[in-house]
Amino acid sequence: MVERRLTSHTAPPLVRLALLGCGTVGEGVVRLLRRNAEMFQRKLGASIELAGVADRSLKPDPSLGLESRLITRDAASLVARPDIDIVVELFGGLEPARSLMLKALESGKDVVTANKALLAQKGDEIFRTAARYGRSVGFEASVGGGVPIMRTLREALAGDRQRAVYGIINGTCNTILSLMTDAGAEFAEALHQAQQSGLAEADPTLDIEGHDAAHKLCLLVALAFGVLLKPTKVYTEGISRVTLADINFARQLGYSIKLLAIAKDDGSAIEARVHPTMIPQRHPLAGVAGAFNAIYVQSEALGPTMYYGQGAGQLPTATAVLADVLEIARHRCAGSNTSAPALGYPATVVKPGRVKPMDDVLSEYYLRFMARDQPGVLGAIASVLGRNRISIASVIQQGRGLTGTVPVIMRTHEAAERDLKRALSSIGKLKMVEPSPTLIRIEEQL
Ligand SMILES: NC(=O)c1ccc[n+]([C@@H]2O[C@H](COP(=O)([O-])OP(=O)(O)OC[C@H]3O[C@@H](n4cnc5c(N)ncnc54)[C@H](OP(=O)(O)O)[C@@H]3O)[C@@H](O)[C@H]2O)c1
Repeated sequence: MVERRLTSHTAPPLVRLALLGCGTVGEGVVRLLRRNAEMFQRKLGASIELAGVADRSLKPDPSLGLESRLITRDAASLVARPDIDIVVELFGGLEPARSLMLKALESGKDVVTANKALLAQKGDEIFRTAARYGRSVGFEASVGGGVPIMRTLREALAGDRQRAVYGIINGTCNTILSLMTDAGAEFAEALHQAQQSGLAEADPTLDIEGHDAAHKLCLLVALAFGVLLKPTKVYTEGISRVTLADINFARQLGYSIKLLAIAKDDGSAIEARVHPTMIPQRHPLAGVAGAFNAIYVQSEALGPTMYYGQGAGQLPTATAVLADVLEIARHRCAGSNTSAPALGYPATVVKPGRVKPMDDVLSEYYLRFMARDQPGVLGAIASVLGRNRISIASVIQQGRGLTGTVPVIMRTHEAAERDLKRALSSIGKLKMVEPSPTLIRIEEQL
């Protein structure tokens, strides 16, 4: 319901927003709504009005235009108001965000959210509800912060078939790996520095163990391939076991280590995985440092394209939220009563797809064994690898170690994960090699 004021035929129509959550991103939305009000009015031919803000800890702030009459703790009543057109959900978390979004859609409102955790886990229900009620769900801000990747996949690349998507989509992990690479910090020290500078949470588990990137990858897969995956289907390994030694060996081999979210579609199954990955130093993704995000998309006819920018933060993320608000407001102002499918495919078409088991995934590998410094070690390891159809591309063997063991580094040619696991299990039984070698997958051909 976009209101047309009847008092004067020159008065522009109004699009009314309800904001749920005025924390980091919500405050950015309020700031940009104020700063760009005139530009939005010119772009839309309508005014966007912040009609109410639900937040349990927000205080009135006249400098932001947040008067006490706008603020409530009762989010359900705000969502139920008939004068609201668009509900902007920035609470985060699963509940009450999920129920409030469903209520908004069921009552004819459109929804904009940045909540990747919710969409990855409950997206099927939310997108189906939006389709049933002919409403929109904007979620540009949920992946890549300010990087416009969702709309790009849904619209700009819609005329082509996507083959693979590679994302650096967790700024915390990228910051930590950059500190390790550029400043020579060990993991714990780099994490501590990232926490001190506000780039990592006090409890960083969701980020450093790869779960946040897995949530975002589910949304990239949905838009790139029209398949809805649950995060539990994404092979997920974080960066907490990456050591400075591995970063330095990677450099010697010509690679950088990044936490990559990787999705590929070979036509029969989807590969979806998040793990530390060695990529050639010359690849554009290797130059993405600190809190920046980048998504590298391989499309069949177009070839590779890359999207790069601020992956989080108040104003960058708020720009993505407002881009969705403007798109929806345009539809509303045009009197359109239906919405384009949120995932670029009708909700009836988007189904769970077959996920390739990790055992079947082919990759090249970096392996670091800690082995006794004695003759025959290299041969023993190489022979087990050979018996399991894994051929070695290069080896780095270092001199005497103070602890009695020395690192033996091997880079393999492409092999199936199943064969590699079998080989590592056999090598783990060799007396001269410490158990649990380090394994980092290499993406040479991206
Ligand atoms: N921050 C970023 O750069 C960024 C980037 C991309 C996406 N996102 C996503 O954007 C969303 C918001 O993130 P944020 O960083 O802005 O979070 P935030 O700073 O924690 O803000 C959330 C606000 O909502 C309030 N709130 C949460 N649940 C509520 C409830 N049930 N009732 C009333 N108030 C409630 C919080 O109050 P309390 O403080 O009292 O809890 C807080 O003021 C999340 O889904 C996040 O994943 C964030």
